[in-house]
Amino acid sequence: MPKLHSNKASFFRQTTLLLGLLSMLLVLWSCKRNKKSKKVQAHHHAQGQGNHHEHSHGKKHAHKKGHAHSHHHGMRHDFSDVKRWVKIFDNPKRKAWQKPMEVIKLMAIKPGMTVVDIGAGTGYFLPYLRTAVGAKGKVLGLDLAATLVKHMNQRAKKAGWKNVTATQVKPNDPQLAPKSVDRILIVNTWHHVQNRGAYAAKLKAALKPGGAVFVVDFGANATRGPSKKHRLTPKQVSDDFTKGALEATILQETLPEQYIVKGQ
Ligand SMILES: C[S@@+](CC[C@H](N)C(=O)[O-])C[C@H]1O[C@@H](n2cnc3c(N)ncnc32)[C@H](O)[C@@H]1O
Repeated sequence: MPKLHSNKASFFRQTTLLLGLLSMLLVLWSCKRNKKSKKVQAHHHAQGQGNHHEHSHGKKHAHKKGHAHSHHHGMRHDFSDVKRWVKIFDNPKRKAWQKPMEVIKLMAIKPGMTVVDIGAGTGYFLPYLRTAVGAKGKVLGLDLAATLVKHMNQRAKKAGWKNVTATQVKPNDPQLAPKSVDRILIVNTWHHVQNRGAYAAKLKAALKPGGAVFVVDFGANATRGPSKKHRLTPKQVSDDFTKGALEATILQETLPEQYIVKGQ
């Protein structure tokens, strides 16, 4: 009888051990599956942005589902694939709707000024800004993506632009010294910024007396740009500026797809 009892006990112990082992394996397997599906989601997210920007250059795409970020909290995307973004952002056809010279003119840049391009991407605006500030001025391209920052620095080196540098920044801070900048340009990027009121206050602090910020972004009826739910109206941008103690003005311009809001 005791033997039978001990056999029973050992059978029970072994079964419990086996069940425990099985459930551990199950937990491990489900963790792995979860990670994999997150990777797929991130990939789709990046694809979605690509589509929206390819769309912005004339090709028609449906914007993929799955934008986890609301319009008000800023839209986040992966901009690390340099080759892809060079093709999109630096497409020569862009000049027709981007009107970079008109943007530069409105910025009233004087030779010798320090100008910052926030969310500079592949550096589309850098050559225009560089020409405007002249040899004695400085141009700083800022971006979240290390790959794009590296690309901009390589681009500047290759072209011999001695007064152009690029730096990686954090999403919530342009990391600019107080009263150090004359002009700040933010093209097609403001809708990506989170806590825009607080960000605007940081821009205000970085401006020298007489300095100004310019946000260029896609209008509600633009045929390109982010999906409608991610777009901001000029009024929303003005309100963001006001929260940061920047005095906002919606500028008169002839850009077919975008508006420009000035803050000072
Ligand atoms: C749509 S692209 C525009 C690039 C460039 N301004 C142009 O017009 O070609 C947006 C860029 O902003 C960058 N970005 C997004 N949020 C940012 C932030 N909070 N600070 C700095 N860069 C940001 C992205 O990495 C990306 O390169």
